[in-house]
Amino acid sequence: MTAQVIDGKAFAAEVRGKVAEHVTRLKEKHDLVPGLAVVLVGEDPASQVYVRSKGKQTTEVGMKSVEHKLDADTSEADLLALIDKLNKDDSIHGILVQLPLPKHLNEDLVINSLDPAKDVDGFHISNVGLLGTGQKSMVPCTPLGCLMMLRHHHGSLSGMDAVVIGRSNIVGKPMAQLLLGDSCTVTIAHSRTKDLADVVRRADIVVAAVGRPEMVPGDWIKEGATVIDVGINRIEKDDGKTKLVGDVDYESCAKRAGAITPVPGGVGPMTIACLLANTLTAACRANG
Ligand code: GUN
Repeated sequence: MTAQVIDGKAFAAEVRGKVAEHVTRLKEKHDLVPGLAVVLVGEDPASQVYVRSKGKQTTEVGMKSVEHKLDADTSEADLLALIDKLNKDDSIHGILVQLPLPKHLNEDLVINSLDPAKDVDGFHISNVGLLGTGQKSMVPCTPLGCLMMLRHHHGSLSGMDAVVIGRSNIVGKPMAQLLLGDSCTVTIAHSRTKDLADVVRRADIVVAAVGRPEMVPGDWIKEGATVIDVGINRIEKDDGKTKLVGDVDYESCAKRAGAITPVPGGVGPMTIACLLANTLTAACRANG
């Protein structure tokens, strides 16, 4: 079998198009412009690239984009004061604090100081609890993007065996909650899982989110399974050049899977598209 490639880039463009249409209507009918504030502390190069991309795409769909770039040695008090100001600003409907934060800042404290209704990352403890109990919440962008691709490809996911490799708060755990919400039988695998190969071989859906380059080989994949690769790892090739790869070995997995997301061009573009969708949702909820 050769897998169908799930084109996240094209799907994300479709989602952004729908968001842009909705934003136009909000402006015309309600004089409302959704606003997203992104806070970046320090100069982590990867975070700078993500933040630039988020700002550009926010503007492209017609929303207001505000960037706050703070020095790496910004105090917790100053960061919390900025968040408090953004929480109270009616022109800002979504706030994203880019992670990771410098070591001297308490990430949990900072995230939980956000107004949960503006927490477009879905990381606030209230949103985590709402998602876990199946209530209306802000859903973390990367897992939401994965779920949208899975639903688009399969229609119903009910009764499918799903394995999520990785137990992070940002991807693994919320991904498992979303799959459970869609009536999958869900296993969360991680670094201590015994016989990971055996666990993965039983799965109809494999979501790989461990951050280890090409760790899932093709012979772990059940014939016809759907593989969603969340990994974005930069590796050096034999010729000294670098290359982006996922957490699964694409070549061998694509030979056995029924469908697979590429890296780049799979999950990555969907993450920002979902951030824009979440900002739109936050703006609509804030305005009745
Ligand atoms: N750093 C890596 N991924 C993310 C994300 O989804 N949200 C935020 N805020 N920071 C990140």
